[in-house]
Amino acid sequence: METSNVMKQNEHYNLNSTPQLTAIQKSFSYIQKAVEEHKAKFNSQDVFFIVDYGCAHGANSFVAIQAIIKALTQKYGLTIENQISVIYNDLPQNDWSALFQVASQSSVTSLASGKSFYQQILPSNTVQFGYTSTAIHWLSKKPCNLQQHCIALGGKSSAEELKLWSTQAAEDYRLFLQHRSIELKRGAVLVCVNLSRNNINETGYLGTEHNLYRSAITVLDQDELLNYNILVYYRSLEEQTDPTLLKELNFELICADLHLLENLIYEDYHQKNIDFDEFIEKYTESVLSWSESSFTSCLRKDRTKEEQMKISEEFWNEFRNGVRLQGAEPFKHNPYQSYVVLRKL
Ligand SMILES: C[S@@+](CC[C@H](N)C(=O)[O-])C[C@H]1O[C@@H](n2cnc3c(N)ncnc32)[C@H](O)[C@@H]1O
Repeated sequence: METSNVMKQNEHYNLNSTPQLTAIQKSFSYIQKAVEEHKAKFNSQDVFFIVDYGCAHGANSFVAIQAIIKALTQKYGLTIENQISVIYNDLPQNDWSALFQVASQSSVTSLASGKSFYQQILPSNTVQFGYTSTAIHWLSKKPCNLQQHCIALGGKSSAEELKLWSTQAAEDYRLFLQHRSIELKRGAVLVCVNLSRNNINETGYLGTEHNLYRSAITVLDQDELLNYNILVYYRSLEEQTDPTLLKELNFELICADLHLLENLIYEDYHQKNIDFDEFIEKYTESVLSWSESSFTSCLRKDRTKEEQMKISEEFWNEFRNGVRLQGAEPFKHNPYQSYVVLRKL
């Protein structure tokens, strides 16, 4: 089954996802807060389920899970480790063997769930701690083709396109929270780290978004260009913390913040740890890792495999040229990231 929403396989994502790791590291204080606010009951016989929704190939996810376990042992004592079971969730097409390589190093029980997080994953009333990072901005389906850009919030969408994409994003967000509300125990917590936009609709990521679309224009035929839409939507903090929605789904808001994070690849370049060529290469690989499947899935099926590979190569070379021409500055930030901590009522 083909999907445009999965990360590049064979260790590629684990080796090229520093921006996503930065977002996880920033979540440590929110994890701490969530553990402080965790009120769900459990006794010494109960399994303590932690779920990471959208774990990809595990290297970053493992860092988040370790931070959660550390905070839990500080609150509840070391013996809780014997009760913890971690569920790594992602789409069925995820690179599960890469995930298992990482998860097998854990001191706690680790299980995997290959199912969309827009569905119920665990039995009702079983989850103690839910976590997700840089994942729920991926939509479940494309609401319509975008005529003039590959990203809905790339600044070129018509009012009608924006309406359809924002409606899809709202429906998906409701579904995500609705299923989590069913799975979580009363008093359990959910930490959502999510790509977002600020209150004047900036994603903080236009340089990259424009470079992707400009590169696509140079290599794709018209019908493919029209299909080249990356299925992401950056919700505002207000959309993610709508009091009516949270109340209806039995969540209480613990805290919510928005941060514009530094791109550490840029920082490395800025501090002269890497030169401009290395910056271009590392940055391109990091964007390729999360977005390559969106590009390949728009290619016409009557193209041979060789043709498809050649076009992909041209596309990423064009992306590199774009970075070279513009310099590193337009790529200095990761997109805005929201940090929302919820507790199940
Ligand atoms: C950018 S990666 C983030 C992975 C990891 N959380 C991290 O921070 O590095 C997004 C992940 O979300 C997954 N994903 C997208 N849509 C999903 C869905 N509907 N259900 C489960 N996982 C999904 C993708 O397959 C991908 O592995």
